Amino acid sequence: MKIGIIVYSETGNTLLCAEKIREALTLAGGGEKGKEKGKLEVEVWLERLQVTGNPRVEKEISFPSLPDISSADALVFASPVHAFSAAPAMKKYLEQLPADALKGKKAACLVTQMFPYAWLSGNRSVGQMAALSRKKGADMRATAVINWRNKRRQEMIEEAAARVSRALL
Ligand SMILES: Cc1cc2nc3c(=O)[nH]c(=O)nc-3n(C[C@H](O)[C@H](O)[C@H](O)COP(=O)(O)O)c2cc1C
Repeated sequence: MKIGIIVYSETGNTLLCAEKIREALTLAGGGEKGKEKGKLEVEVWLERLQVTGNPRVEKEISFPSLPDISSADALVFASPVHAFSAAPAMKKYLEQLPADALKGKKAACLVTQMFPYAWLSGNRSVGQMAALSRKKGADMRATAVINWRNKRRQEMIEEAAARVSRALL
C-alpha cells in the first residue's frame, strides 16, 4: 500500500505533525521487519509543497513542481491555519487537482493552528480541506486539528497520528 503525505508548512509545526503521521503509518505497517513477518506492506512518502509568489494571496501562488500522487492508495493533506482558513497554498493545491485525481483513494486531513481550541477556526479550516478533497473524489476517512498553544499539544499530535494511521490502513 502506498501512502503520500502532502504538507504545506512555513515554520515547521505542520511538518513535524506530518512526520509523526509518517512514523505512525510506517510503524503500523511494520516497516522492513513487518514485511518479513508478512504484515501489511506500507510505503509512506512525504512531500513538502514549495510555492512561489505571495503565499498570503491564493491567486498569486504557483507551484514550481507538483507531487506525483497517481500511484498513491491513500493521501494525507496537512496545512497550517492562516487567517481562519486552511493556508491559501493548500487550498490552491487541492483546487488545482484534476476532477477525479483522488478517486478511489482514502484520505485524511490535518491542520495546525496557534489558537488553543479547534473551534477557533481549526475545525472550519480542516473542513474546507476535507470538502475540497471530497470534490476531487477522495474517500475521506479522518480529520485532525492540532492546537499549538494547547497544553495537551503533544498528546494531540500522538493521538492524531494514531487515528489517521488506523483510518488509512
Ligand atoms: C499569515 C498567518 C495567519 C495565521 N492565522 C491563524 C489563525 O487564523 N488562527 C490560528 O489559530 N493560527 C493562525 N496562524 C498560526 C499558524 O496557524 C500556526 O502557527 C501553525 O502551526 C503554523 O504552521 P507551520 O509552522 O507549519 O507553518 C497564522 C499564521 C500565519 C503566518
